[in-house]
Amino acid sequence: MPVLRPGAFRSGSLVDDLERLSRPEAALPDEDIVSVLVKYFHAYIYPGSEGHCVSLGEISELFWRFCGLWREGTPDRPDDLGLRGTTGYALRMLADLPKTGHIFRSIAGRPAMSGDVRDGYVGLDLGTGTGVLLLAAYLQARRHGARRCDLLGVEYDTVVAERTGQMLERLGVGRVVAADARDAQAYIELVDGPITFLANETIPAMNQRMQSEHFSAIHAAVFKAASGRLRDTVFFPEVLVAVEPKSDASVVLSRQNRFQVPKYYRHESVFPRAVIIEGRLAALTRLGKDFPRLIPPQVRRFLPRRW
Ligand SMILES: C[S@@+](CC[C@H](N)C(=O)[O-])C[C@H]1O[C@@H](n2cnc3c(N)ncnc32)[C@H](O)[C@@H]1O
Repeated sequence: MPVLRPGAFRSGSLVDDLERLSRPEAALPDEDIVSVLVKYFHAYIYPGSEGHCVSLGEISELFWRFCGLWREGTPDRPDDLGLRGTTGYALRMLADLPKTGHIFRSIAGRPAMSGDVRDGYVGLDLGTGTGVLLLAAYLQARRHGARRCDLLGVEYDTVVAERTGQMLERLGVGRVVAADARDAQAYIELVDGPITFLANETIPAMNQRMQSEHFSAIHAAVFKAASGRLRDTVFFPEVLVAVEPKSDASVVLSRQNRFQVPKYYRHESVFPRAVIIEGRLAALTRLGKDFPRLIPPQVRRFLPRRW
């Protein structure tokens, strides 16, 4: 069973796709986005495949084996797919194709930037995982005509940092350092000047308290170390809405409050609920709603979930 519907898959190598989609005048349809995602997935497991045409059949076979790893009774183990340590867990995020596709589109296809990025674009992804958001940032930079871009991922899982770093280097996208993103001194001076784009997707699952992940702590550290360099930054997510169920209050985490839960709610349990994406408020459960048409229902049922 192909992981994408017939017609949704673009043939050609990942490298060629990225080159084509980097042109400022190129359209960025959802079909291209999901094709890039599944090719990136394949190349993450089989380094080097980014330079070849890999058929949808080959990608699908690998995808099924990968998704099967998390089900009982499967013959494969992560090692059998060459996935050391926790790299398989990182790839589970990417493999949630509808949500990843939506997030990818919101970054790569961003229609306007706040300043002129042609002379320099600096992007950070704090909690990089597979690096797919840095790949989206790379397209954002190039589609806005950036001649130079410096993209840096920060990931504290050293095995994932190494694997993702190799992948992004092969693609010429950027680099990854193994560091705790709550320690801004470990990486902030590795990039120069104003920060054009900053992703922080260390968002807990909807049934977990905000404090269970490092989202706010990471933002606190970066703002403390470099607030003057964040004036025109585009953030992903630009706004995160969380709820405090006892009082049914919504709290908004955005650049205005440095993405911190307001003091009054800090000792309460606050859960993530929605983000502003592509200018609209979307519940985390509703992310990716344009993409199911590209993915057969039998595949969708089998996909891992991002949050
Ligand atoms: C939700 S995943 C990010 C997924 C990533 N955007 C992707 O699409 O592959 C969160 C990642 O952040 C990393 N992480 C969490 N807290 C971190 C911290 N304090 N410093 C660095 N990395 C962190 C985790 O190891 C994990 O790989």
